[in-house]
Amino acid sequence: MTSMLSEFAQDVRAGLGRSGQRELPSRYLYDDLGSALFEAITCLPEYGLTRAGERLLGAHSPEIAAVLPPTTAVAELGCGSGRKTVPILESLRARSGRAIRYFPIDISTAALHACARELASYAAVTPLEASYLDGIARVAALRDPSQPLLVLFLGSTIGNFDISCAVEFLAALHARLNPGDALLLGADLVKPIPQMLLAYDDPTGVTAAFNRNILGRINRELGADFDLTAYEHEARYHEPAQRIEMHLRARSRQRVSIPDSGLRIIIEAGETIWTESSHKFLLPDLDAIARDSGFHPVSRWVDPQWPFAMNLWSAGG
Ligand code: AVJ
Repeated sequence: MTSMLSEFAQDVRAGLGRSGQRELPSRYLYDDLGSALFEAITCLPEYGLTRAGERLLGAHSPEIAAVLPPTTAVAELGCGSGRKTVPILESLRARSGRAIRYFPIDISTAALHACARELASYAAVTPLEASYLDGIARVAALRDPSQPLLVLFLGSTIGNFDISCAVEFLAALHARLNPGDALLLGADLVKPIPQMLLAYDDPTGVTAAFNRNILGRINRELGADFDLTAYEHEARYHEPAQRIEMHLRARSRQRVSIPDSGLRIIIEAGETIWTESSHKFLLPDLDAIARDSGFHPVSRWVDPQWPFAMNLWSAGG
């Protein structure tokens, strides 16, 4: 029976059917509604992360392009709307004098199309609907082997991985790159706890809606009967691991049926479902992650307004 379940249905079954802390993989936050709510989050005054990344690329793209070979192609892991990528494509094109090849990689068709449309006038776009590592493997097969590659991983999505998984993921990425390739990695830095908590629990309630939507998605796609109003959004900072955690806390005892996962559960009053981790970094953490995954730090820029680091790492060679 389990073999008939979709990957989503299986992951929900594994995450919610267990004893102990229930959890859901954070990538399921991003269906069409979730992606739209995340775009709204990036406009919140309390959530400075995205604007910090955009400021850094706006200010330093010419320097980044200057240290890369003029023939560099670009691949982006999780392209989103594509807006933040414009300065880097423009700077590379200005340097090489020719159209840049750009491979956006995303699991969301809607996001890929939006990004391909947005960036068509800046680069020769080949969208790839794939997971990150499968996408990079496809880029490796498609590109001219003599053409160096810059991989963009911009919005601190790396923070969604546990540190050991982040290192494992980056090492797997490194293994698919050639000497002379490079990675531009965005990483949100540790800041005062009240500021971090407000960024993930905004008074407008947009982040709460983004979080609750994961239950709405389970209702829509797996036929479940979650009462979304019965769960409170909670953002906590877990200091030992330097991470913000998002949870959904049941206000009262909930009986939930998820037919497509073959699951009936009882969630006790006060119990939480853990939906996301966002790790925050110190600069030495990033050096250690580079070293442990096989990359070599080349340059780093930090936004003074909202501590966020843009890291240029070389794959070696
Ligand atoms: C898109 C994964 C970087 O972790 O800050 C925003 C997602 N979650 N508010 C982040 C998110 C809650 C975001 N990333």
